[in-house]
Amino acid sequence: MQAWVIGNWKQNPATSRDVDALLNDLVTALETQVPADTALSKNRCKLMIAPSCIHLAAVSTRLKDSSVLCAAQNISEHSASTGAYTGDCSAQQVADSGATWTLLGHSERRQYHKESHHSLVKKLSHALAQNLGVVLCIGETQTQYDDKQTLEVIDTQLSVIKDLLAQQPELVSSLSEQLIIAYEPVWAIGTGKVPTVEEVSKTHEHIKQTVAEFTKTTEGTTVLYGGSVNMANADAFAADPMIDGALVGGASLKAESFLAIANAFNQANTELV
Ligand code: 13P
Repeated sequence: MQAWVIGNWKQNPATSRDVDALLNDLVTALETQVPADTALSKNRCKLMIAPSCIHLAAVSTRLKDSSVLCAAQNISEHSASTGAYTGDCSAQQVADSGATWTLLGHSERRQYHKESHHSLVKKLSHALAQNLGVVLCIGETQTQYDDKQTLEVIDTQLSVIKDLLAQQPELVSSLSEQLIIAYEPVWAIGTGKVPTVEEVSKTHEHIKQTVAEFTKTTEGTTVLYGGSVNMANADAFAADPMIDGALVGGASLKAESFLAIANAFNQANTELV
């Protein structure tokens, strides 16, 4: 299975200058520190960066000649193209900026922007209409985890895929190629707390089975883990065959830690080959 490590920069960094510095560190490290014959250079683990919307075009341009892809963190629910939607950024505008993917349903958007099931069905449809891949983020809160409701919560969140396909069955082939699920327990985001690898593995197995039923694919969907992934714990997550990569927040803001996490998944993948 193709491994992915995706950096969600959230509302960071503060300035364009900081963005340039981070990208320079990243690109330089990829170009110079990785010998030509290593797994990383063979692109076993795909890398993607999701900067803030204001930096999307600059980051896409800077990464154009590299192997690193660029994603938005969100797209407009109201229109795939243009319209009177102040403050929004459409799937078409994101694609035009050079990005090829978008995150959707991140818990911070569900919490602070009240992103609903209904709006996510529309956003998924808009993204695929503009040929953007989607990293759909799902995960339970601390209370739901304590109440052992993880799988129930995840099933409800995943049902956006089922509902989209009920409306637009023709999207089934796009979804099998352009959908990544990121399992991010809300209580693990930015807290330093992580579930055990065994817990994540079981949850990922459930997600893969559920999505396969919707999309009628035999090949498993890519499922990433997110929430306090860092240089120290990446190896353990990478060693589990159900964990296809990581969605990284804080540790993606330094090239060194982001690439160390990517390398953990490269090593694990190389060993599995
Ligand atoms: P942290 O890696 O900072 O916990 O953030 C995870 C996340 O929310 C990525 O989308």
